[in-house]
Amino acid sequence: MGLPPGPRGPSLVTSARFLHRPLDRLRAWHARYGDAFTVHFTGFGPGVYVADPDALRTLLTGDQSDLLAGEANSFLAPVLGPNSVLVLDGPRHLRQRRLLLPPFQGRHVETFREIIRDAAHREVDGWRAGDRIVLRNRMRALTFDVICRAVFGVTEPERVERLRGALGALIDVATAVLLLPGMQRDLGAWSPGGRLARRRAAADALLYEEIARRRDAPDLDERDDVLSLLLRARDEDGTPLTDEELRDELTTMLAAGHETTATGLAFSFDLLLRRPPALARVREAVAANDDVYLDATAKESLRLRPVIDAAERTLTQPRTVAGWDLPAGTKVYPAIALVHHRPDLYPEPDAFRPERFLDGQVESYAWLPFGGGIRRCIGAALAQAEMAEVLRVVLARAELAPDRPAEDEVVLRGVTLAPRHGVPVTVRRVISRADAREGLHGIPAVSAS
Ligand code: HEM
Repeated sequence: MGLPPGPRGPSLVTSARFLHRPLDRLRAWHARYGDAFTVHFTGFGPGVYVADPDALRTLLTGDQSDLLAGEANSFLAPVLGPNSVLVLDGPRHLRQRRLLLPPFQGRHVETFREIIRDAAHREVDGWRAGDRIVLRNRMRALTFDVICRAVFGVTEPERVERLRGALGALIDVATAVLLLPGMQRDLGAWSPGGRLARRRAAADALLYEEIARRRDAPDLDERDDVLSLLLRARDEDGTPLTDEELRDELTTMLAAGHETTATGLAFSFDLLLRRPPALARVREAVAANDDVYLDATAKESLRLRPVIDAAERTLTQPRTVAGWDLPAGTKVYPAIALVHHRPDLYPEPDAFRPERFLDGQVESYAWLPFGGGIRRCIGAALAQAEMAEVLRVVLARAELAPDRPAEDEVVLRGVTLAPRHGVPVTVRRVISRADAREGLHGIPAVSAS
């Protein structure tokens, strides 16, 4: 048994090169070593990237009892809590997942679409011609609103703002503290660990208050938001989720679903604003209410700019993966960003072409921005709806011009890929909701850069 070859040399150098240009580095390694290669990252040990869709289908479907995924996220437990679906493995993970999935499926997604459109309109209402905005920041505000309303079911503006303050502060400090072991101990209010503990206590107090209010809400049985659906949910034994479990899953959905979607949207706008013909085509789709094309645009954007470069699984027993007999304990990284860039699956992979996704031309394990199998992203349908609906509203109402001469470089932000500058743009023109509804677009199909 051995690991496939990969970049040699000190792990510190390998890690630094990856951190500097993650996408370019992964592609260079893929070109040199093929569909399975081993990378040694400082502090993480060796991990095997796999970029072959058939190997990934075999790995991610079928019996998963010899694979761990939650363990790799255990560093997030101090914030997400011990019941978070992200940090659990085995039967406890499956129980949480079965309870969490239904609110994100079927007709619920249609309800989300209305909430998203409304949040997007309110965001654009605040834009004025001449404003310079950083799209990733504006999209973060927007996706937070969507999580608050669609997932937490909180709509009163002052409550949304209180949650934004407390949860935003928690997530901000968490990323820095959790990634640095030894920083988590509470050594007083001014220590990083102490700040984390206090912010978590403040955020928890608000979340428990929302959970209690909702339990008592007279309309609980008619409500469609995820928290209300989870309060009504029962597992196979008829047991409901406890308040602690609900708190942990609400925090998890916010942490997993808010920045990721905002980043995906920022990338989409950067890609479109740099490609006038593609922008003109998607504007036509917006004007014609062509939802299929809008969805394809969001998919193509997530293909070219996946927000997560790779998933992670740890083998608890020896397993053959992509032709390699890997020993127990090996970390395997399903290389989302590399599968998306294979010329055999996507001819001219650097080209932005939503048409690839029309008529179901792409197989499921060739497109993996949301991972796969029993760990596939729970919020995938919500995230895709957010991307399509926000594109629809913004492209119908605003003309934006990029402030920087070239597309933002892709860098690592925590565990996600993100545009280095957050996609700064100038608002050239905004039209009212009413004019957009009447089809009085007046927004030129092509935005000059
Ligand atoms: C563009 C936006 C998003 C991207 C790119 C994304 C991506 C991912 C990926 C790659 C995984 C890991 C899958 C695996 O290991 O196979 C994941 C898991 C997860 N995501 Fe998302 N996600 C997004 C939005 C959301 C949203 C909106 C929510 C919820 C509101 C959400 C909730 C979760 C949860 C709870 C998990 C853990 C699932 C499990 O372990 O069983 N995500 N996501």
